[in-house]
Amino acid sequence: MFVPRFRPDIAGLARYKAGRPISEVARSYGFEPADVVKLASNENPLPPFPEVEKAMAEALTEVNRYPDDDAYQLREALSRHLDVAPDQIWVGGGSSELLRVAALAVGGPGTTAVYAWPSFVIYRLATIWAMSQAREVPLDAAFAHDLERMAETVGSDTTVVYVCNPNNPTGTVVPADDLRRFLDAIPERCLVVVDEAYGEYVTDPTYSTMLPEAVSRPNLVVTRTFSKVYGLAALRVGYAVASADLVAELRKAQAPFTVTSIGQVAAVEALRYPARVAERVEANRVGREWLEERFAELGVSFVPSQANFVFFRVGASTDRTTEAFLRHGVIVRPMADGWVRVTVGTPEENRRFVEALEEELSALSQPGDLA
Ligand SMILES: Cc1ncc(COP(=O)(O)O)c(C=O)c1O
Repeated sequence: MFVPRFRPDIAGLARYKAGRPISEVARSYGFEPADVVKLASNENPLPPFPEVEKAMAEALTEVNRYPDDDAYQLREALSRHLDVAPDQIWVGGGSSELLRVAALAVGGPGTTAVYAWPSFVIYRLATIWAMSQAREVPLDAAFAHDLERMAETVGSDTTVVYVCNPNNPTGTVVPADDLRRFLDAIPERCLVVVDEAYGEYVTDPTYSTMLPEAVSRPNLVVTRTFSKVYGLAALRVGYAVASADLVAELRKAQAPFTVTSIGQVAAVEALRYPARVAERVEANRVGREWLEERFAELGVSFVPSQANFVFFRVGASTDRTTEAFLRHGVIVRPMADGWVRVTVGTPEENRRFVEALEEELSALSQPGDLA
């Protein structure tokens, strides 16, 4: 049989592993889909606003046409929302597309990419796709970015640095002052991507978005998404802010039409309800603190989070822990070294998760299968 020749680095790659779908877990573990709780992909537990659903329905009749490749309406709406110029806004098919395109635009053989680890796996994949070499800098003892070591790791061959703030999967943030100092230390020929996919959820007063910095620095791009707090993950709409020059250069490495017309319409509509977004942020804070309090009461190790998820470890291996939750119809995300990530859900979903934790905890706390 004919076998096409593949790039060895691509052939050897493990594909991005998404959270397990509800339908598949329901089938495998004998649940009705409605009884499965998915807390594995940091999604918004609530459906889109009704006005957003209506706007999408109205836009359906025009899907015979290609979407607006310049996303004029969406960039205008974001421009008003963020108080930056429309040409300082870059949109893409989820912010993960923008993270990938950034790597492709500046990478290539002989270049390196610097980012923290563990962090969002797309940085690692994008580095490989771009034929660049990864320089992964371990998180510090508090599971936060070690910005000093990251700055030291940036070499003359480094063309992109990713900073995930808040960090996925640990939920930690770097203070704004430290991040500005870090940006000052990175040479301007090196692109810096600050990924703020969870920025809206942060309550720590030392944190601040780098959006204002992005328009004034020549090498900074700040990415955000409609997938999390706006609850539009399936539509794949992300955006970034950078100087107009940088946006124009980055767009050259991007395929056309990656944001659908439905996605553009939905995102524009979603931006009209900031008070409801704030309510969702507050509900997330309450749910996050409730989960953290339960972890503390039960003596479970966890990392205090600023995002819509919490990173925790009970003592058993990652696989054994996630499997135990699946038997209760609760999908959580396996990470590594016994660590697991749970997304903040609705109060009812959070309760289901904690009930499963309480039932399984003594069995999972037996040491033995952790390296
Ligand atoms: C840190 C981080 N950045 C970006 C994304 C990508 O989101 P999207 O491509 O849906 O915008 C995610 C999604 O989980 C994430 O965790």
